[in-house]
Amino acid sequence: MFEELENVRQQCLNCQKCPLGKTRTNIVFSDGVPNSNIVLIGEAPGFNEDMQGKPFVGRAGQLLDKILESVGLSRENDIYICNTLKCRPPENRDPLPEEKKACRFYLDEQLRILKPKIILLCGRVALTSFLPDAGAISKIRGKWFDGPNGAKMMPIFHPSYLLRNPSHKPGSPKALMWEDVQEIKKKYDEIKKATLK
Ligand code: URA
Repeated sequence: MFEELENVRQQCLNCQKCPLGKTRTNIVFSDGVPNSNIVLIGEAPGFNEDMQGKPFVGRAGQLLDKILESVGLSRENDIYICNTLKCRPPENRDPLPEEKKACRFYLDEQLRILKPKIILLCGRVALTSFLPDAGAISKIRGKWFDGPNGAKMMPIFHPSYLLRNPSHKPGSPKALMWEDVQEIKKKYDEIKKATLK
């Protein structure tokens, strides 16, 4: 698995399938543990990610780590993290459809090799890449959907959205995220238990 993933990363390193290949500092392929049951898919690298070559290392990433840690999950032990795009769009604009299309090969390869049991679609861009007709993230977050290779997929809010909506009141995005992350941990524990049998 590690060798196969590394082969895909090597192909990505030289990628010029779209114009972002000219403007990136680094490709941002992944972080976290490859042999895990959970893959989290975000949108695209931002400034800090482009500089460091790692996903979710800026403010949104720090909040994501805190949320995961609140239920005992971490990228060191439990989760593999990647994005729909491996290169930063200029000024952090939304990924263009042709960029998503060009980059999709790498994401599909990551999922084919990893075969995660749980896929977290973090934010609108990741959601629409897999479930284009499922509805707005505010309506369908926290629900399980069928994904590739028998995986269960859950759309969740993007941590950048939570940074813009800091209230913890019942029904607020942060309160809903807290519910979702507990449900994710429950499913993760069930899967772990079942695979130990
Ligand atoms: N936002 C994302 O969606 N991905 C990152 O890697 C960083 C910020």
